[in-house]
Amino acid sequence: MSERDALDVRDALFRDVPAIAALAADTLFEAWSEASYAALLDAPGARVLVADAGAALVGFIVAQRIEDELHVHTLVVDRAARRRGVGRKLLGASFGERPPRRVFLEVRRSNGAARAFYASLGFEEVGVRSRYYADGEDALLLTRDRPEGPRVEGVGL
Ligand SMILES: CC(C)(COP(=O)(O)OP(=O)(O)OC[C@H]1O[C@@H](n2cnc3c(N)ncnc32)[C@H](O)[C@@H]1OP(=O)(O)O)[C@@H](O)C(=O)NCCC(=O)NCCS
Repeated sequence: MSERDALDVRDALFRDVPAIAALAADTLFEAWSEASYAALLDAPGARVLVADAGAALVGFIVAQRIEDELHVHTLVVDRAARRRGVGRKLLGASFGERPPRRVFLEVRRSNGAARAFYASLGFEEVGVRSRYYADGEDALLLTRDRPEGPRVEGVGL
């Protein structure tokens, strides 16, 4: 992705599913199948967005709105496109037009990049889900509330 590429963050389409699954397989320990991602596109409350750089998809997010809360299931940015604000844009777009009161998600304890990413956006580590992942690693529970605190520029909280 060059600096000149315009980045379009938009709802995922069925034709995006192979690229989403490929991004997941490249990064995630527990990537889902194409069929699982395809099923999500029609699931009630699920929000699947992609970052489209024109020549390729460079990231995606899967989140679920539960009343006024948003649970972020998965956020992946292509290795070659990281540290250019793509993750921040995807997260912000997942909030939609009516920003959630609270956003929460789980992250692997060993995932220093993701922990730094969410910390930079004002998320706090509020708990541990013991042995949450299939390989036995703990998850940290992160949340970010909308009310007080500085607005996070570009994210909309
Ligand atoms: C976590 C992830 C989504 C971040 O995406 P990204 O597009 O690189 O993030 P951004 O460019 O929007 O970063 C925003 C800020 O987060 C922080 N940040 C992001 N990655 C960081 C890293 N590796 N180390 C330290 N800080 C980091 C920085 O403050 C950054 O701002 P800066 O680049 O101006 O310093 C990406 O690293 C990724 O896909 N990782 C693998 C999958 C994953 O772990 N997903 C999250 C678990 S759900």
